[in-house]
Amino acid sequence: MYLVLAPDLTIVGVSEAYLRATMTTRAQILGRGLFDVFPDNPDDSTATGVSNLRSSLERVLKHRRPDAMAVQKYDIRRPDSEGGGFEERHWSPVNSPILGEGDQLRYIIHQVEDVTEFVRLKQQRSEQHKIADELRTRAGQMEAEIHRRAQEIQEANRLLREHQEELESRVEARTADLQQANEALRKSEEQLRQSQKLEAVGRLAGGIAHDFNNLLSVILSYSDMLSYELKPNEHALADLEEIKKAGRRAADLTRQMLAFSRQQVLDLRILDLNEIVGSVNKMLTRILGEDIELKMLLAPRLAKVKADPGQIEQVLMNLVVNARDAMPTGGNLTIETANVELDVAYARDHVGVTQGAYVMLAVSDNGVGMDKAIQARVFEPFFTTKELGKGTGLGLSTVFGIVKQSGGTIWLYSEPGIGTTFKTYLPRAEGKVDWSPSPGPPTVAIRGTETILLVEDEDQVRKVASGILKKAGYHVLEATSPGEALLVSEQHPVKIHLLLTDVVMPKMNGRQLAERIGSMRPGIRIIFMSGYTDNVIIHHGVLDSGVSFLQKPFTPDSLSSKVRQVLDGVRRDGDAQFVRH
Ligand SMILES: Nc1ncnc2c1ncn2[C@@H]1O[C@H](COP(=O)(O)OP(=O)(O)OP(=O)(O)O)[C@@H](O)[C@H]1O
Ligand SMILES: [Mg+2]
Repeated sequence: MYLVLAPDLTIVGVSEAYLRATMTTRAQILGRGLFDVFPDNPDDSTATGVSNLRSSLERVLKHRRPDAMAVQKYDIRRPDSEGGGFEERHWSPVNSPILGEGDQLRYIIHQVEDVTEFVRLKQQRSEQHKIADELRTRAGQMEAEIHRRAQEIQEANRLLREHQEELESRVEARTADLQQANEALRKSEEQLRQSQKLEAVGRLAGGIAHDFNNLLSVILSYSDMLSYELKPNEHALADLEEIKKAGRRAADLTRQMLAFSRQQVLDLRILDLNEIVGSVNKMLTRILGEDIELKMLLAPRLAKVKADPGQIEQVLMNLVVNARDAMPTGGNLTIETANVELDVAYARDHVGVTQGAYVMLAVSDNGVGMDKAIQARVFEPFFTTKELGKGTGLGLSTVFGIVKQSGGTIWLYSEPGIGTTFKTYLPRAEGKVDWSPSPGPPTVAIRGTETILLVEDEDQVRKVASGILKKAGYHVLEATSPGEALLVSEQHPVKIHLLLTDVVMPKMNGRQLAERIGSMRPGIRIIFMSGYTDNVIIHHGVLDSGVSFLQKPFTPDSLSSKVRQVLDGVRRDGDAQFVRH
């Protein structure tokens, strides 16, 4: 399509296609100036159509050469019948000169292609590209966002997992704590039950022992006295010997029962346990035999304890004999001493243990060991796994009683088939050692002529004691009760050298009686005799230093030698104190 322009840019010709494309008619435009007909779109402030076209036409006029223009936006006025205004159009124009004679420019052919559709398409495409790009960047952003979120979620998950793990481990730890606490509780309940059981049995045993000691005093004393009367070849002497043996055995049992019930009268000394171990060493090797190797691990600078040396010897012997019996085909036996501190944790885990400084005496063997059921019962009196006649089951209950009465504690560790350790802990004591192994009891004369006030509520016991003393030459005043004794003391005109009194009597105990008589007759010697200790008396701290004690059951020998010792003022250091913890 084209326009034909005169050099003054008046439209002089037009093609049909041009008229259609520009929505004009030939009549409307012929003879009119190009830019009158086609002005710039006044609504498009950036419109450059007119100026660009003018420049191109001026170039053609000037150089008389065709001028191809770049695609132009050149909006076309819409006729009013079509709604008026301008319509966006894009054109690709070429302006060519038509030269006449003498190269004179006669016309300019303004040829155009309407590329509006094309441009629109292109625009659309670039729009689409833009959208695609935008979408792509949006997608990229979204991807990045998703990635970021995913990472956040992962991180959150990780934290969650961590927290969960921590929580789980906390729950686990707490559960373990609880289990431990439960286990500890169960153990202490078990220990408490055990100790209550032993306590009850102990009280029973103590009560029985009290009566037995009186009966045994009578049996042993009369059979002894009777044997003095009989001639050496008399047939009855052998029978009597059997009675005495049975009596002594019964006295042994009673003593063990008392030990268990912690009602023995203890002869407390400051001791070095290493010395005790040393003093029984010889005896130990004798009872152990050749198949058992004895090892001593004695701590140097061992702290002292306050205990009854004879009792501690017995503890050691009983533990050693048990260890020997647990190793019928031989093995290793270890005796160990050590200074130990039992701490709060130990005290918490072991019922009845107070924390503090102790001296440990342990006996270990690698013998048959014990299962839990046996371990739970070993300290019970008369519990034995040994065949009939081999064991009485009083060994460990004696040990238990002695250790407890000495303020100590005992624990055992045992595994069937591996061995056993018994550990006894005695509280540390301050002071100088006041005991050393003695070569044997001193022999003393057992006769005398002094006056003795004998107070005993058990008729048979009083009678036999009086008989023994009279036979030994003494003048004996008898009283069946403290009241009667006070009366005798008041009424007797001459000196009474010795008060020999039972401790446990109704109404007034031996101690109170001794105080009354002691104040009436200053300088009178006093011997207490008893088969066991009694709470009332111990609480009042009876039998301090300077008082003497005769253990029931007595025999003519033990009675007369104690009386002689005390009258002679030989207060053996061994004279006892009532002690109970
Ligand atoms: N070292 C040990 N190894 C294995 N078992 C032991 C050990 N010590 C004690 N026992 C067990 O404990 C039980 C009780 O011991 P205990 O010393 O009280 O009595 P016993 O030795 O049987 O008799 P007794 O000591 O009166 O002669 C024993 O029968 C034995 O079963
Ligand atoms: Mg034993």
